[in-house]
Amino acid sequence: MTTLLLHLSDVDEARWAAAYRAALPDVTVVRQNEPFDRKAVDYAFVWKPKPEAFDGLTGLKAVLSLGAGVDALLKHPHLPAAPIVRFVDADLTQRMSDYVVAQVTMHQRLFTRFKRDQIARNWVQLYPPAASETQVGIMGLGRLGADAAARLRGLGFSVLGWSRTPKQVEGVRTFSGDALDAFLGETDILVCLLPLTPETAGILSYGLFKKLRRKLDGGPVIVNAARGGHQVESDITRALSDGTLGAASLDVFEKEPLSPDSPLWVLDNAYLTPHIAAISNIDAGVRYFSDIIRAHEAGAPLPNVVDRSRGY
Ligand code: NDP
Ligand code: OXD
Repeated sequence: MTTLLLHLSDVDEARWAAAYRAALPDVTVVRQNEPFDRKAVDYAFVWKPKPEAFDGLTGLKAVLSLGAGVDALLKHPHLPAAPIVRFVDADLTQRMSDYVVAQVTMHQRLFTRFKRDQIARNWVQLYPPAASETQVGIMGLGRLGADAAARLRGLGFSVLGWSRTPKQVEGVRTFSGDALDAFLGETDILVCLLPLTPETAGILSYGLFKKLRRKLDGGPVIVNAARGGHQVESDITRALSDGTLGAASLDVFEKEPLSPDSPLWVLDNAYLTPHIAAISNIDAGVRYFSDIIRAHEAGAPLPNVVDRSRGY
């Protein structure tokens, strides 16, 4: 009998277990604090696993990550050698694109400027640029970045993309690797959908903000829905205060939850959300991983396996 272990923190493990038991009646589903034979575990479904999570799991066939991003999991002190399958799903992708589209359109329509005018009771008919005149640069053209690019294209935006290796995405002007500065120089609204790796850590810094195109009224804008480790928050605060950036939408933070002392809370051109851009939905997650377990038990290869050497 196949055994699936759930080891989840900060989410409702009991609800996930009930959903897995309903979806996989032929699989033994166990939770981390229940008694079970650790050697019999075939799959471990994890989110923020504790240091002892993988102890004694000698028969593991795969680690299943509830998160699409695996940066924290890859730093686990006792991560087993089994393949890691990350969550890749249309529902999650749709939610992320919803967030990106909402933030980008808000900034294209100069929301910060008109909110300030409203508070000052100032009637100034400044016309925002059309979507086609607004250049949105997406860092990361993977599952999430490519979908956000397609949806923004559909709204008429002029979309650019930057990735590690060269990519072709319909209707998107693409850049890769060393062409970062050329990409930034043409970007009014920068969207970060990169994985967090040693190469991308701290990339959203003051020096990078200075390289963005300064065509949008109020200054260029950043949107970060990837990981807090991508951003240098002191640089963002400085750039939002001195006009280097016109605005920033941030869903993720260097340290979560964001400290009540962070200066970002009170900046009127910072739009903060508590890491909710795209949650892993239980129904979608259980469907995705149950299909994978069934197919793998029947001999199919695992999909969406993380490349540990790349870090994503
Ligand atoms: P993918 O792995 O599908 O795509 C990653 C993209 O980033 C690829 O295009 C890749 O390039 C590019 N990339 C990686 N390293 C570099 C680099 N050094 N320089 C330039 N480009 C690079 O990831 P997803 O789209 O599925 O997810 C992206 C991230 O979004 C996740 O890692 C996670 O951290 C975050 N996320 C956040 C959520 C939230 O709620 N805030 C929810 C879900 C995910 P290449 O194509 O050449 O490989
Ligand atoms: C994820 C996340 O990586 O929710 O899936 O951040």
